[in-house]
Amino acid sequence: MAEFTFLKGPADWWRQAVVYQIYPRSYADQNGDGIGDLKGITSRVPYLKQLGVDAVWLSPFYPSELADGGYDVADYRNIDPRIGTLEEFDVLLETLHAAGIRIFIDIVPNHSSDQHEWFQAALKAAPGSPERDRYIFRDGKGEHGEIRPSELVSHFGPTAWTRITEPDGTPGQWYMHLFAKEQPDFNWDNQEVRDDFIKTMRFWSDRGVDGYRIDVAHALVKDLKNGHLPERQSYDVSVMKDDGTDDLFDRDEVHEIYASWRKVYNEYDPPRVAVAEAWVHANRRARYASTEGLGQSFAFDLLGTPWNAKKFHSTIDYQLKAADETGSSTTWVFSNHDVIRHATRFGLPESALANLPKWFRSADREKLIDKELGLARARAATMLVLALPGSTYLYQGEELGLQEPLNIPSEQMQDPQWFRNEGSISRDGCRVPMPWTRTGSSFGFGPGGSHLPQPEWFGEWSVEAQDGVAGSTLELYRKALKLRKGLVTAEKLTWVKHWFNPNVLHFVRPNGWTCVTNFGNKPVKLPKGELLLATADVVGGKLPANATAWLKA
Ligand code: GLC
Ligand code: CA
Repeated sequence: MAEFTFLKGPADWWRQAVVYQIYPRSYADQNGDGIGDLKGITSRVPYLKQLGVDAVWLSPFYPSELADGGYDVADYRNIDPRIGTLEEFDVLLETLHAAGIRIFIDIVPNHSSDQHEWFQAALKAAPGSPERDRYIFRDGKGEHGEIRPSELVSHFGPTAWTRITEPDGTPGQWYMHLFAKEQPDFNWDNQEVRDDFIKTMRFWSDRGVDGYRIDVAHALVKDLKNGHLPERQSYDVSVMKDDGTDDLFDRDEVHEIYASWRKVYNEYDPPRVAVAEAWVHANRRARYASTEGLGQSFAFDLLGTPWNAKKFHSTIDYQLKAADETGSSTTWVFSNHDVIRHATRFGLPESALANLPKWFRSADREKLIDKELGLARARAATMLVLALPGSTYLYQGEELGLQEPLNIPSEQMQDPQWFRNEGSISRDGCRVPMPWTRTGSSFGFGPGGSHLPQPEWFGEWSVEAQDGVAGSTLELYRKALKLRKGLVTAEKLTWVKHWFNPNVLHFVRPNGWTCVTNFGNKPVKLPKGELLLATADVVGGKLPANATAWLKA
């Protein structure tokens, strides 16, 4: 076995870290098969170092049939051969660590792929067998069991139940899947399931992985006692109970699982860390972030917040208070592999933002985007959160100011959400492979094309086109992350009120690091101090509309 490299350092390195999310299939393709791979990512470590991120988070790279972009995992302790090998993973980890960059990986515990050996074994075994008990198999209703066991929709379609054919060829039991039918839900009341995830976590922690992003962390424990089965027509958080007794999501018992994971994390030096993807009521999020649990939980609130000073202010205050109460730190995020890129979102009128699926499926969707405005606001918003206490999660390509590619023909789309759910956006746009060069095969993504089509304009937004260009979004991110390293200070801020202008957010960190954001449409006078960086040209001491500046008092 290889010697694994551990990156030592303070146990709280994550509290104000900048974490960069990589969607492995779309980052860099080294062997030219059109799919991004681990060697490709390794070749970009110098880029990541120059960008100045503290850690990367890799979306799933496990063996998968790609029914849901890799979130259908067939083997939790291996690598998809199209993406690489375990040895290549070790090389990537070592290369990152040598550059001082830590690594988070994605853990998908709610469901596996239907190709997972346990699910295949369950299909071959009899109803009531230990193999079936690792998943949620039930008999159907009706004379011949032909009616699904409960009225439960899935995230990607009208039902969360699929009927199997028994080994003897007869129509058989049904299994539950909150997502695609290729993603059967695990039964977390089963001890073998619990033990296996501990094994997985040790497997990667022993290899030197620093942290974990926990997929749908609020869904694992369901109320299945005494023949009960959850029924639901909507996954909107508003229909979820907020007291820990909902029969499907965010049950109090889920935290017993995370407490057991925490014990494992704390066996390592520095302790491993985790961040929960938990779409729960705001008052419940803190539990996932507790020091006895995962440690952090994504603050998704800014994903839906329109460009409005008052709304940003109250969201920020709420998050800071919540983090303070649990001893965790906040996690800011504007973009990831599931949402429309924020440079596009901020260019939409508020009415479109309020109903993104409707906007996405309308014929004139492109016409509604003010791209220039969207980018200006996205840059300003990111600079704002980078100055806040807490950690920030960035998504590959946002450092280039990329807009959402909207030209993917329906037949080339891959996202199950698009095909199975009329009321949804397709998440393929934000997963279109990175443009590295102005021209050439797949704009430098790889020598053999790209698994999702890239738009023609990608070249002009490539790394090559922005590298060293003053004012480019790439150079702005590089400068901001570099400056930030020297500025990060105690996790506190003081708001400075501008009674005369409600469109300005202005705060100061304990060391005098000052951030001013102009949400309005007229330039505003900046306070006294040394101007460190601004997202737009400051003329005559004035900050333009839709811009952020950092100053040092
Ligand atoms: C999470 C992932 C998403 C995936 C889903 C099911 O929400 O971010 O991409 O489709 O879980 O695993
Ligand atoms: Ca490849």
